[in-house]
Amino acid sequence: MKAKKAKKAQSTAAPLLLYGATQLVTMRGGNVARRSAAMRDVGLIEDGAVLISGGKIVAVGTTDELHKDAWLKQNKRRVEEIDCSGLVLIPGFVDSHTHTVFTAPRLIDFEKRIAGASYEEIAEAGGGIRSSIAGVRGAPESGLAALALDAFDRMMEHGTTTIEAKSGYGLSVDAELKSLRAIKLAASEFAGTIVPTLLGAHVPPPEFRERPDEYVKIICEEMIPKAARGKLARFVDVFCERGAFTLKQTERIFEAATEHKMRIRAHIGQLSETKLASLLRFQPVSLDHLDFVGDADVRQLAKSEVVATLVPGANYFLATEAYAPARKLIDAGVAVALATDFNPGSSPMLSMPFALSLACTQMKMSPAEALAASTINGAASLALADRKGSIEVGKDADIALFELDDYREIAYWFGDNRCVGVVVNGVPLDDDVA
Ligand code: NIG
Ligand code: FE
Repeated sequence: MKAKKAKKAQSTAAPLLLYGATQLVTMRGGNVARRSAAMRDVGLIEDGAVLISGGKIVAVGTTDELHKDAWLKQNKRRVEEIDCSGLVLIPGFVDSHTHTVFTAPRLIDFEKRIAGASYEEIAEAGGGIRSSIAGVRGAPESGLAALALDAFDRMMEHGTTTIEAKSGYGLSVDAELKSLRAIKLAASEFAGTIVPTLLGAHVPPPEFRERPDEYVKIICEEMIPKAARGKLARFVDVFCERGAFTLKQTERIFEAATEHKMRIRAHIGQLSETKLASLLRFQPVSLDHLDFVGDADVRQLAKSEVVATLVPGANYFLATEAYAPARKLIDAGVAVALATDFNPGSSPMLSMPFALSLACTQMKMSPAEALAASTINGAASLALADRKGSIEVGKDADIALFELDDYREIAYWFGDNRCVGVVVNGVPLDDDVA
């Protein structure tokens, strides 16, 4: 298996020179999210080269510049070289919002929606998120891990090297912790980087439907402490929405998460607007969806460090009338990220290039903005901007290679996959490019 090969290769990886790239998109600009005009500066180098050693980027420039590098000259014989002519190189995509632990597609929901039922109507009738619970509760940890690893590998085939993965379909203490352990197991077999998130507050499970506060109490007093003790999740997420959790319940969960030193993110404004003020005081690292967000909140977000993670795959699949107001957010100075929201209900899409295409055609983001949103800003939304999301000296050498002449084509050829390989922690993963 590709992923295993990479793990083994890592310890013995030779220094690596990628040279002759038709375009090298560095996304340079430091370890912070890009905003406004900075999102449109992709740091393009033609005939670009990257030198990698010990899994880190040690030099970036034109091929000519790097060939003059003193260290490279001295170590030439032990450096593996890859000719990247005809390729566009970008920082590996950071997919900062995925729900990877589920067992089956929801085809009945799919057909019902095609016939005219809404996402909320289906959920109220017992479909939706609740119909994914039995599969996860009944599956062994190893089975869930195998499914998650399969999804991670497919994502990587599309150029994604860092993935946030949520639990959220077990919805009991045992099944949520099992889901997180499955993510950990899959992560240990995966060449890229996985960031686990506890989404025990996805919806109240059927047995707590009439007494959701009791379920919230269990999340706060059992689930979060156990996940924290086992170091099973970096973030706590809540689906704050009608039919899921109220603002008050969300605040209680965030208080518990904060007590246990876990960072916070939330699904918010997907189906209706929720005022953000009371959540912003918890300093969430990311607020996701934001299809409905008021102008005053847009201004607050622009002043904050919070990343707004937009997931147009969910709008596409649910065929919503409107997408999130990306233009308004970017123009106001909000740090906008893009993610797939890979899940069986609203976004069975694991391709970041397709997310970019949707961002451009449906949300009027430029290809450059979409790339910034899906690399450095995705990294910022996972508090990883110091290591991921740009091709700069000192960062992890995570790079995606596309058989294209121009980076804008990544969003242009929608439905196709032009990614021909990735370099992960300095290790080239596709035989075609190695
Ligand atoms: O991000 N909104 C909540 N969670 C998912 C949908 C999950 C599902 O329908 O299974 C989302 O769209
Ligand atoms: Fe989601």
